[in-house]
Amino acid sequence: MNVTIFSSEHELNEAAAQLIAGLVIAKPDAVLGLATGSTPIGIYRELRRAYERNIVSFRRVRTFNLDEYVGLGENHPQSYRHYMNEHLFRHVDVPPENIHIPDGTAADLAEECRRYDRLLDQAGPIDLQLLGIGHNGHIGFNEPNGELASRTHVTELNAQTRNANARFFQTMDEVPTHAITMGVGDILKAKTVVLVAKGADKADILCRALTGPITTDCPASLLQTHPHLIVLADAEAGRLLR
Ligand code: GLP
Repeated sequence: MNVTIFSSEHELNEAAAQLIAGLVIAKPDAVLGLATGSTPIGIYRELRRAYERNIVSFRRVRTFNLDEYVGLGENHPQSYRHYMNEHLFRHVDVPPENIHIPDGTAADLAEECRRYDRLLDQAGPIDLQLLGIGHNGHIGFNEPNGELASRTHVTELNAQTRNANARFFQTMDEVPTHAITMGVGDILKAKTVVLVAKGADKADILCRALTGPITTDCPASLLQTHPHLIVLADAEAGRLLR
């Protein structure tokens, strides 16, 4: 595990974007595992800048997003598909056919999960998986549980996660109850995992995930077993790791 704590969020964003851009420059057809949430927004901004300055092209990159809300389609402003379009995809040259995000509006969600895993198997392993961390230790939408699914599946969001994400919706009723998420096995198969944490509210869970017991009660703790885990934290989130 390689942990770096940054004194500013901007430095963290630049370092994360450099890791991703550096990989794509070295391997133009890299498979990127991408995340949503507020944490990666600044990283995607730096990647757009690198693209605009002709430092990197995403023309041959293939992308797989971790998760998507059940019931929210591309046109819903809170769907992860919409998020990715707004923060990255529509600004860079990644071909639409190279972009993969679970379809939360699929009529047959179980089949959609199998389809996603087939695509992952064909393209994978993911070269670099970008990850945020939920306040309860979730990665993607793999919530704390007695057991964790290895592969892409439909999951019920727990109250803490729905509350945390309610800030993006008008009312609590609009917050989706379920999501499709890549499984923990899918995530751990990535060659490199880059876990990013920002803000004082992530300090406790980040410390627990990285230094506490490996347990399904904290899905991010399974990352301790990954042979190539890079942790990027700002000073607030990394406070307890010093
Ligand atoms: C969301 C996503 C995760 C994300 C996490 C933290 O619900 N499913 O992929 O890492 O919660 O989000 P944030 O970065 O906004 O704190």
